Amino acid sequence: MATKQQELHPSVVKFLSNSPKKMLINGEFVSAKSGKTFDTVNPATGDVIVKVCEADKEDIDLAVKAARKAFEGEWKKVTPYQREMLLNKLADLIEKNAEELAQLETLDNGKPISESKAVDVPASVQHFRYYAGWATKIHGETLPVSVGNFHAYTLREPVGVVGQIIPWNFPLLMATWKIAVAVACGNCVVLKPAEQTPLTALRLGELVMEAGFPPGVINICPGFGETAGAALSSHMDVDKVAFTGEYITGRKIVQASVGNLKRVSLELGGKSPNIVFTDGDMEGALRGCMGSVFFNQGQVCCAGTRLFIEKKIYEDFVSKLTDKVKKIRVGMGLDPNTQMGPLVSDDQLKRVTGYLEAGKKEGAKPTCGGDRVKEGDLSKGYFVQPTVFADVNNNMKIAREEIFGPVVSAIPFKDVEDVVFQGNDTTYGLAAGIWTNDLKKAHKVAKAIKAGTVWVNCYNCFDPCVPFGGFKQSGYGREGGLHALELYTQPKSVWVSLD
Ligand code: NAI
Ligand code: MG
Repeated sequence: MATKQQELHPSVVKFLSNSPKKMLINGEFVSAKSGKTFDTVNPATGDVIVKVCEADKEDIDLAVKAARKAFEGEWKKVTPYQREMLLNKLADLIEKNAEELAQLETLDNGKPISESKAVDVPASVQHFRYYAGWATKIHGETLPVSVGNFHAYTLREPVGVVGQIIPWNFPLLMATWKIAVAVACGNCVVLKPAEQTPLTALRLGELVMEAGFPPGVINICPGFGETAGAALSSHMDVDKVAFTGEYITGRKIVQASVGNLKRVSLELGGKSPNIVFTDGDMEGALRGCMGSVFFNQGQVCCAGTRLFIEKKIYEDFVSKLTDKVKKIRVGMGLDPNTQMGPLVSDDQLKRVTGYLEAGKKEGAKPTCGGDRVKEGDLSKGYFVQPTVFADVNNNMKIAREEIFGPVVSAIPFKDVEDVVFQGNDTTYGLAAGIWTNDLKKAHKVAKAIKAGTVWVNCYNCFDPCVPFGGFKQSGYGREGGLHALELYTQPKSVWVSLD
């Protein structure tokens, strides 16, 4: 397939010409102590984009030391208003470099440039500005104690040095979700980007320094999970670790945290039910299903991958959905017309095609897609055909495990009771969608579904002021809004005797 790809922005070319990319520790871009590097790959072609210095235990230790020094020193002298201004400055710089960041994101992750531009970069700007505003509004309380003559109050203090480990599906946005709130609350950060997609985080690191953050406040160390990630999550001088990724890794993070009982927050995966009732707006529901599953190649933790359709309209809905899915334009991320790019990596391609085979073996019927893309230019990259599986039941592997690809499982249901039971019959609890025009039914089901977010007649809506996180094995702790401040601050109670 011939594709018209965007020319790379001169500053992207310049950024990439500087190889290997160094990590940010203590305000300086440095090589790994071991001298090791790794390749970051363009998933649309399989070609190496650039080499990246690989952090492991020693580098993580230096970064944690730098963060601790900043936290106990320079950063303490920075006022809340100055933190607000620094975060706003960083937001401005991201906005100023939006085009470049969007291209870097698409190169490294594969996602369509239209999405990098419309979602990843502007949402990152908005998120930094939202938490910039909070920096001056975090305060304790005075308390009316009844046990004697005391003046009792709380101070709300930062937790300290935080380790943050992020995945590859929204590399810049996930870095933003983690860093903005932590820094607004007065913490210092060591961020480990995913090994598949380190580039926008490193560029963000340059903007961090341009914005004027003191050295050590934000450190960015790309490396692998088993080495750099494990070193960060088990580090005895890290006070808190925040993680987004697979639930199996989440368990390892918790285990690694026990040494110093560091605080942990986890945003893990999902197998979210998206429920279509007969009485809903069908066009809206169809559009919602498309967005909920195929956005970002399906590599979204809250993707509505279990599509529950009321029996009466099951056949019709699946057929209309299939028609739409067949029209998705799969192509190179840098082509502005592309609606779906490649998966992030060869590993992810193997994983998703493995699930496609498993689905067919168990008797699910692909009404479209069902394989990787094997023809033309796209066969060199990690492209998968957008796939609708019909005749799925909730016990099949494809309905139980997170596929993290452009694959939806259509499951019929009888009534409210049936769909609430099936919807909740999962180890996950991240999100859910409900499509109905019956007000009572909408609220009843929203209440009954065990998930951290429920969307009614919409899907994948996000705003920095709305908390996001999971029930059950989708994790704990909430990012976004007021709730995230709880993760990054701790109350200190002070009693003053007035007698
Ligand atoms: P992962 O959970 O292993 O990787 C996420 C991050 O954790 C990366 O930065 C990685 O380097 C780090 N990590 C890995 N092992 C670690 C360890 N032992 N200690 C500390 N950090 C560690 O996810 P992976 O392997 O990239 O993808 C596998 C599957 O996980 C995907 O197919 C998808 O189903 C799921 N996933 C879910 C995400 C979500 O947002 N819920 C995001 C990414 C993956
Ligand atoms: Mg892994």
